[in-house]
Amino acid sequence: MIHNEVIDAMLAHKSIRKYKSEIPSDEMLETVVRAGQQAPFASQAYSILLSRDIKKNQFKAPWLFYFCVDIHKCELIMKKRGWKRIMNDFFVFLLSIEDVSYVAQNMVIAGRSMGLGSCFLGYAPYHAKIIKKQFELPDHIFPVVGLTMGFSDEEPEKRPRYPMDFVLFEDKYPELDDEIIDRAMQMMDDGYLKQDYYKKLNAKINLGKETKDKYSYDDYSWTEHISRKWGLWSEDPEELFEQFKLCGFDIRGEKNNKE
Ligand SMILES: Cc1cc2nc3c(=O)[nH]c(=O)nc-3n(C[C@H](O)[C@H](O)[C@H](O)COP(=O)(O)O)c2cc1C
Repeated sequence: MIHNEVIDAMLAHKSIRKYKSEIPSDEMLETVVRAGQQAPFASQAYSILLSRDIKKNQFKAPWLFYFCVDIHKCELIMKKRGWKRIMNDFFVFLLSIEDVSYVAQNMVIAGRSMGLGSCFLGYAPYHAKIIKKQFELPDHIFPVVGLTMGFSDEEPEKRPRYPMDFVLFEDKYPELDDEIIDRAMQMMDDGYLKQDYYKKLNAKINLGKETKDKYSYDDYSWTEHISRKWGLWSEDPEELFEQFKLCGFDIRGEKNNKE
């Protein structure tokens, strides 16, 4: 494999959940955000919110970003040019979520290249109402994901990834036989178990009072975790649709259907 500074910064990635109290400089902030901005985009339909209030994030990181789909800015520009958006909210959201993702990940890599650790936080969509209020967001802005960043106060081992033959398929998607599936599962499970990942985070998903759990933290692995996540969590999508609505998004096309 080829190595250079960019590749090595990417390969050095690990999510960081403990931060030093030392505050990274404003120059570092400018650098991280500029590197983020240079990501490819479809419409630059995003905004980055920043909170430096360490009390406001669970990992007490000096910086907490929220990456938002931002259609509001596009609409302001369109208005100046005498246009009105007719593209539906669902499609516009789908396009914009890609802009958001590339900016966010560029910032993760830029941070890592300067010695800054980070960790995404997935709760943001469910807290859209709170975040909207906190940052006084106008309508048509929706927080997709949070990201803590700062100097790392832990040095965890790198977390494993699937083997490449489980992700890269040339010309034709293969039939995934037992051997290839078992190898992928083992690579992930061994890697997470080796570093007591779930034990340290105390992050086992409970099976409920009725069901006896045959797994302890000694054998509760990554594939068990994602199986429980996808096999147990049957969240009501209404809660999320409500958050979209509060931010002015008609994701389900209800307005069109009524017309
Ligand atoms: C969209 C997204 C949401 C995430 N949300 C959380 C979260 O809420 N809490 C957390 O501790 N880690 C969160 N993570 C971090 C993942 O758990 C982590 O990336 C994964 O376990 C792989 O570990 P690594 O990043 O150290 O390689 C999130 C990651 C992504 C991409």
